[in-house]
Amino acid sequence: TLAIATALDELRAHVGAWKRAGLRVGFVPTLGNLHAGHYSLVELARKHVDRVVASVFVNPTQFGANEDFSRYPRTPDADAAGLSAAGCHLLWMPEVATMYPFGADNAVRIRVPGVTDVLEGAHRPGHFDGVATVVARLFLQVQPDVAVFGRKDYQQLAAIRYLVKDLAFPVELLAADTLREPDGLAMSSRNQYLSAEERPVAATIHRTLQRMREATLGGTPRSQIEDQARAALAAAGFEVDYAVVRTPELLEPQDIPGPRVALVAARLGRTRLIDNLEF
Ligand code: PAJ
Repeated sequence: TLAIATALDELRAHVGAWKRAGLRVGFVPTLGNLHAGHYSLVELARKHVDRVVASVFVNPTQFGANEDFSRYPRTPDADAAGLSAAGCHLLWMPEVATMYPFGADNAVRIRVPGVTDVLEGAHRPGHFDGVATVVARLFLQVQPDVAVFGRKDYQQLAAIRYLVKDLAFPVELLAADTLREPDGLAMSSRNQYLSAEERPVAATIHRTLQRMREATLGGTPRSQIEDQARAALAAAGFEVDYAVVRTPELLEPQDIPGPRVALVAARLGRTRLIDNLEF
């Protein structure tokens, strides 16, 4: 059965009791409005630990001024039901005033350099600072042994890895594969905003990423691959923020083979979608 904590002392009572009993604690942070992708993170955590904590917190510091903080969907009852069914043990649902006792504008902030300056970071200034700021707090509050993040948010995972190493957080990170719809569209809370006409078009992102992988493996020059990807997405009706092939560290690859990641961010109507493919 799922317990729910909204105050810090409740959270600490649960986790403290588990730790004194020698149980290992896993953690899945989320913004809520949960879907099967989120629940797959809970299921992955359950394979590695004895107790799983999930958090639902719409974090004001990671939303830009013109982004959707106040309109971000809040569905706590459905989230609790889904987490319970997924085998989660505790839901941590703090108020903004609990997370940011001096207010979000007066919070001690954490900035991860480098990996957060490009691509998604360049298009959403301050976003990853807000993510690092809240994830550091969540780690200090929950004190998990293991934390799970999705590969869907490639740069976020990279930033969290950097944060954990640089601040020596005693937490082991697990990366979860991206859960997709049958046509390849990565599951996302934002998919519900797609119109009936837009929904099938959205799968173009995954097909484009696959074509970027095949072209890279086939030896096509990177600039040509990226141009073709942008053109294919534009032709399908997207406004493209980026469509690139990078090294795993998000650097521009030199002409020697090695691991790569293709990343896309593009808007379809009012809905901004991101996805990536590692190969
Ligand atoms: P949110 O967008 O709710 O995502 C929570 C976690 O679910 C992230 O680790 C994300 O990568 C993962 N996820 C989302 N869609 C997925 C999919 N289709 N398959 C697998 N995993 C998926 O990311 C955030 O919240 C926030 O930035 C947070 C880390 C909670 C900090 O506020």
